[in-house]
Amino acid sequence: MSVKTVGVVGAGTMGSGIAQAFAASGFNVKMSDIGPEQVERGRKAVEKSLDRLVSKDKISVADHGAALERLEGVVGLDPLADCDLVVEAATEREELKLQIFRDLSGLVGEHVVLASNTSSISLTRIAAATTRPERVIGMHFFNPVPVMKLVEVVRALQTSDAVFEQVDGLTRQLGKEPVAVKDSPGFAVNRILVPMINEACFAYAEGIASPEDIDRVMQMGANHPMGPLALADLIGLDTCLEVMKVLHGSLGDPKYRPSPLLQQMVDAGYLGRKVGRGFYVYD
Ligand code: CAA
Repeated sequence: MSVKTVGVVGAGTMGSGIAQAFAASGFNVKMSDIGPEQVERGRKAVEKSLDRLVSKDKISVADHGAALERLEGVVGLDPLADCDLVVEAATEREELKLQIFRDLSGLVGEHVVLASNTSSISLTRIAAATTRPERVIGMHFFNPVPVMKLVEVVRALQTSDAVFEQVDGLTRQLGKEPVAVKDSPGFAVNRILVPMINEACFAYAEGIASPEDIDRVMQMGANHPMGPLALADLIGLDTCLEVMKVLHGSLGDPKYRPSPLLQQMVDAGYLGRKVGRGFYVYD
């Protein structure tokens, strides 16, 4: 079954990036969120990112226009009923994701593959919430989606070989590199990356160095493109905290204990770039 129309659930940082990646690769995309404001914000983010690619001569003005033409913003899940593939990129909360998958399962055709961009939740549990567990899979993209090449393709215990092959091929059609990883907490990247960010929060809280200096040492001393606290702001502090909670809860090792400062920042609403304030302040 060839994929022509892709539904993306969630128009936030990741959802809008994923919608852009599919639209820019020739797919028709329906990007869904809970209200018109959220959808509009997502559309603006895509437009801004495409503007950036035009200004860097990465794409033509015509490609920019064509990608936006292929992107339709919709409210709620019902308009996704005729999609050939749905990628869920909603907030990283298990109950919410399970409900979305239950709803999608009753809405779209039985042949449709349901993918999740979850960064840490068990795909096997998500698959079990649907009527088509063998057609559920993880497609884990990285932020900023238009720039980052990797997609972790996560097989639930139930995922069929055919669905895995199809999603592997689709990922390549997006110009991205699929890597198969096991359905294990945090998969591969976040299992390694987010504990490093968490450790940077501990280091800052202990007064080892300022946020600027923590970031500078990791840029200069480890050649990271950006420091861990700036990266936390880019990912979203709420997402980082959720990943740590999943690692801590499911692996049970105290080394995954979320930094109390990270928790406090989230409680204060300092979620990073998306709200204009995290470890740094943004325009
Ligand atoms: N849309 C389009 N293009 C973008 C973009 C966006 N949103 N953001 C950056 N770019 C492009 C820029 O236009 C620029 O292009 P050129 O190389 O052609 O000039 C290029 O990316 C680099 O950007 P900048 O020059 O603005 O800045 P930079 O060199 O500091 O790079 C960065 C920015 C790409 C974000 C880089 O700092 C980086 O790679 N950081 C690490 C990102 C990372 O680790 N992401 C993974 C997070 S984990 C995750 O997402 C998973 C999860 O589940 C939590």
